[in-house]
Amino acid sequence: MNSVTITCFLVSAAVLLFTSAYSVTSTTTFLIQNNCSYTIWAAASPGGGKQLISGQRWLLPADGSTTGHIWARTGCSFNESGYGGCQTGDCGGLLNCHQNAQGSPPYTLAEYTVNGFGSKDFFDISLVNGFNLPMEFGPIPSSSNGCTQLVECSADINAECPRELRVLGGCNNPCSSSGSNCGPSNYTTFFKDRCPNAYSYPLDDANTTFTCPTGTNYKVVFCPSNAVLRNLTVFIRMRVVVLNNCCTNGS
Ligand SMILES: *[C@@H]1O[C@H](CO)[C@@H](O)[C@H](O)[C@H]1NC(C)=O
Ligand SMILES: *[C@@H]1O[C@H](CO)[C@@H](O)[C@H](O)[C@H]1NC(C)=O
Ligand SMILES: *[C@@H]1O[C@H](CO)[C@@H](O)[C@H](O)[C@H]1NC(C)=O
Ligand SMILES: *[C@@H]1O[C@H](CO)[C@@H](O)[C@H](O)[C@H]1NC(C)=O
Ligand SMILES: *[C@@H]1O[C@H](CO)[C@@H](O)[C@H](O)[C@H]1NC(C)=O
Repeated sequence: MNSVTITCFLVSAAVLLFTSAYSVTSTTTFLIQNNCSYTIWAAASPGGGKQLISGQRWLLPADGSTTGHIWARTGCSFNESGYGGCQTGDCGGLLNCHQNAQGSPPYTLAEYTVNGFGSKDFFDISLVNGFNLPMEFGPIPSSSNGCTQLVECSADINAECPRELRVLGGCNNPCSSSGSNCGPSNYTTFFKDRCPNAYSYPLDDANTTFTCPTGTNYKVVFCPSNAVLRNLTVFIRMRVVVLNNCCTNGS
């Protein structure tokens, strides 16, 4: 596996060393939602993995862990014991990813540190390991502590991916295999131009780190751009209602 460990939160990592001296119990919950039109296999380290058909969600408690990764795997097949593999984001051929597992690039990655410095949570989307599908990451409005931070990467990066970075199911970032001093380059700029609030190389700290007060619960939505389709459906439904009203009352 050639994926690098992403250390986007240099500050929060240092802070973590500090806070781990105290035993903090996290009650943070992640709502992982598949809004893609196709099946994905959500992966979480820690947390394991779960197949999510279109529209399905997975409630994942952080269970006391303070840092973690969440991503989607695509094109998977597993046998009854949970062994197999995926086209993108594979974690060692297992349905249930190991505690500290990383995916096989390319994959869009949600990263978090909860209970961090100053009673804050830190979260981001990273494209350092490439991109496999659009993602939105932010507080669940009903348990947001008033926090309105939201990070979204919903560009159609796969379609625009430079030929030399293109692979089945995704778009590679050359930084995924070249260590923590990678970038910026014309290739990371390709990602940055399309998702300005996501990490495009390991030290890409501009406009990429988001915070909410500790105690906030979060949603990670895969393919949030489906909102466009849903709005269209609502629009069509409204038109039908209007037409029905028009014609059933004989006017
Ligand atoms: C699933 O695959 C693994 C690894 O190849 C194998 O050890 C296991 O027996 C298989 N399980 C089933 C139910 O086929
Ligand atoms: C980026 O730079 C490399 C090497 O200079 C070049 O081969 C490649 O075509 C460039 N790619 C883009 C997307 O500009
Ligand atoms: C960060 O975002 C602000 C506001 O959108 C923008 O003015 C600024 O140029 C961005 N900084 C970088 C380095 O992209
Ligand atoms: C995902 O789909 C659900 C159910 O249709 C919807 O309520 C939610 O707003 C969607 N989220 C995004 C970010 O598209
Ligand atoms: C969908 O409709 C809502 C309410 O009309 C609007 O706020 C939102 O921006 C729309 N989303 C998209 C992606 O068009």
